[in-house]
Amino acid sequence: MRTKIGIAGCGHLGKLHTKMHTMLPDISELIGVYDINPETVKTASELNKCRGFNDLEELLPLVDGMVVAVATQGHYEVAKKCLLAGKHIFIEKPITATVEQGIELVELAKEKNLIIQVGQIERYNPAFSQLKNFEIEPKFIEAHRLAPFNPRGADVSVVLDLMIHDIDLILSLIKSDIERIDAAGVAVVTDTTDIANVRIKFKNGAVANLTASRMSLKKMRKFRIFQEHKYLSLDLDTGIADIFYLADKEAVINDGMAVADLDFVNKKIIYSKREKIEVNALLEENRDFVEAISKGKP
Ligand SMILES: NC(=O)c1ccc[n+]([C@@H]2O[C@H](COP(=O)([O-])OP(=O)(O)OC[C@H]3O[C@@H](n4cnc5c(N)ncnc54)[C@H](O)[C@@H]3O)[C@@H](O)[C@H]2O)c1
Repeated sequence: MRTKIGIAGCGHLGKLHTKMHTMLPDISELIGVYDINPETVKTASELNKCRGFNDLEELLPLVDGMVVAVATQGHYEVAKKCLLAGKHIFIEKPITATVEQGIELVELAKEKNLIIQVGQIERYNPAFSQLKNFEIEPKFIEAHRLAPFNPRGADVSVVLDLMIHDIDLILSLIKSDIERIDAAGVAVVTDTTDIANVRIKFKNGAVANLTASRMSLKKMRKFRIFQEHKYLSLDLDTGIADIFYLADKEAVINDGMAVADLDFVNKKIIYSKREKIEVNALLEENRDFVEAISKGKP
C-alpha cells in the first residue's frame, strides 16, 4: 500500500517537494497541496495533477504524512496542527523559528509516536557522503557558507537560514557535548543577522568555526575537516571532495597519489580526489520520509 502524502506550502521548495512525490509512484501517493495563498494552490495542483486545498483541516484526514514547506515563521503553527491530527511530518529546515517551538514539536511527536524528519538536505550532499568511507574524528572544522542576498529565507537570521546546514553536519560528526559558543553577527540589510561567525568548542577538545553570509557576491559552500593524519576538504556546492591522508611510505595506494614524502616519520601524503556522484538529494530525503512512515526506517 502506498503512503498518502500532502504538501503544506507551495512556494519555491514546496513545489519541488510536490514534484518529488510524483516521482515516487510505487511508494508515495500525492493526495494534495495546501497553501495560504489560493493562487499558489491552484498553480501547484494543476501542475502536479493533484487536489488543491485552501484549508489544511480538509487535507489532514486524507493523509498519512505531511511535508511542511511553508515560510519558516509558519512552521510551528502548521506542523503542530499536523501532529495534533496524528500525522507524521517532514519539516523544512530550520525546524522552527524559535528553540522553544522546536522542543514543543519534538515532545508532541514523541508523545504521539509520530515521525518528525527535518529537511537538513546537506546530509545527502555527495561530497558529505564521501565521509562514509573514512573514520571521521574531527579536531577542527572550518565551514564557510556564503550566498548572494535572496529575500526568501530572510524572515529569519542567517544562522537559521544558512548556517543551520553546517551546524547540523558538525553535530552529526562531533559526538561530544558543547563547552562554549562565541558568536558575532551583523544585521546589514534585514532586521536580523545577515552575516555571522560562530566558534563552537566541544568538551572533547574539538573546535568548529563557522561563517555564514547572505550578503556575498559569490556563492561558496566549503566544509573543511582537520583531524589526526587526515584533511578532508568538501565543496558542498560542486559535490567534490579533496582528501589528503598520511600512509606508510611503503604502502600500496589504490585510491590516490602520493604528493609528498615525510621521510622523518617514514610516511607519505596521499591526495585522493572524489568526483561528484549524481544524486537527487531532495528525492532521496522524500523517499526516506515515506519509508520512515511505511517501514519504520529511521
Ligand atoms: N533545504 C533547503 O536547502 C531549503 C532551501 C530553501 C528554503 N528552505 C526552507 O523551505 C521553507 C520554504 O521556503 P521557500 O523558499 O519555498 O519560500 P517561499 O516564500 O517560496 O514559499 C513559502 C510558501 O509558504 C506559504 N505560506 C507562508 N506561510 C504559510 C502558512 N502559515 N500556512 C500556509 N502557507 C504558508 C506562502 O504562501 C508560500 O507559497 C522555509 O522554511 C525555508 O527555510 C529550505
